[in-house]
Amino acid sequence: MRVLIIGCGYVGTALGERLVRCGHTVFGLRRSIAGAADLSAAGIHPLTGDVTRPGDLATLPDSLDWVVNTVSSSRGGPTEYRDVYREGTCSLIAALSSVDIHRFAYTSSTSVYGQMTGGWVDESAPAKPAGETGRLLIETEQLLLSAVSARQFPAVILRVAGIYGPSRGSLFQKYLRGEARLDGDGLRWLNMIHRDDVASALHAALEFGQPGEIYNATDDEPVSQLDFFRWLDSQLKRGIPPTAGESETTGRKRGVTNKRVSNRKLSALGWRPAFPTFREGYAAAVGVAQKLAHEENRPSSKPGRLSLLD
Ligand SMILES: NC(=O)c1ccc[n+]([C@@H]2O[C@H](COP(=O)([O-])OP(=O)(O)OC[C@H]3O[C@@H](n4cnc5c(N)ncnc54)[C@H](OP(=O)(O)O)[C@@H]3O)[C@@H](O)[C@H]2O)c1
Repeated sequence: MRVLIIGCGYVGTALGERLVRCGHTVFGLRRSIAGAADLSAAGIHPLTGDVTRPGDLATLPDSLDWVVNTVSSSRGGPTEYRDVYREGTCSLIAALSSVDIHRFAYTSSTSVYGQMTGGWVDESAPAKPAGETGRLLIETEQLLLSAVSARQFPAVILRVAGIYGPSRGSLFQKYLRGEARLDGDGLRWLNMIHRDDVASALHAALEFGQPGEIYNATDDEPVSQLDFFRWLDSQLKRGIPPTAGESETTGRKRGVTNKRVSNRKLSALGWRPAFPTFREGYAAAVGVAQKLAHEENRPSSKPGRLSLLD
């Protein structure tokens, strides 16, 4: 297969590496040339271009089988979401109109489920996010679904949970820095997925996903915030974080939801996560943190290295 990964960053590079290992030819597009060496090292052909500039998309490779859109908003707000996700996807659909692709996969987010009651949600559950960024993700999904109906554009959508993995996992890093906080009683559910499992989920969606279908990509076991911290404490002996004060809970970008996201539909495609729960997924990072903590406790060591682990 000839594959183009648009926004070939954290997940895109892992996916590209995986596809190269399977013998596929992979192109990876980013805005700047800065990451080109990383892509080349992974066997991915680097391309530069910006999805917010339709002119840049005129020079995409003209023979492609699979296209994946893993562009991110680079931690931006509604303006970036609108430009990068909604308008960028619109430009991509137009740019690919003359290319006979077999599959297009897009990484949406489980943040589109605004549910607050802690119950299970699958793809048939209402996706009515409270915030503007979530609504822009839904509008992006709708653009793709309309293109599927109007002209058989072969789009498959993955709603991806909170991604963690090497150098990622914001709650874990906050825990190590002593900055993590519990929301209220800590019983809010977290839905997570390891980066390598997002890559394998995208691969499964490209191979077996049905155009016009939405699949949740999350691991097998949602965990409450409190249980996540309890497990980290059992491994690292750094205690349970305090409850957040009023000023720390306001102004969250994605709003607070409380739901357990089911991966049953994606599993029915034959996908299985290599890291079924956060315990397997964080084992390596916890091992490194334990080793650094052990070294810090030695009388001759320099203090503070643990805080560098991220
Ligand atoms: N992080 C999460 O927990 C989470 C949860 C749910 C869904 N997702 C989705 O999962 C996908 C993958 O996330 P990720 O963590 O791999 O993101 P990432 O590491 O930020 O990678 C995204 C890539 O997109 C490129 N990019 C950004 N703006 C671009 C533009 N205008 N044109 C072309 N390329 C652009 C960036 O490279 P340059 O800066 O070099 O251009 C970067 O390499 C994203 O769609 C994200 O929204 C993430």
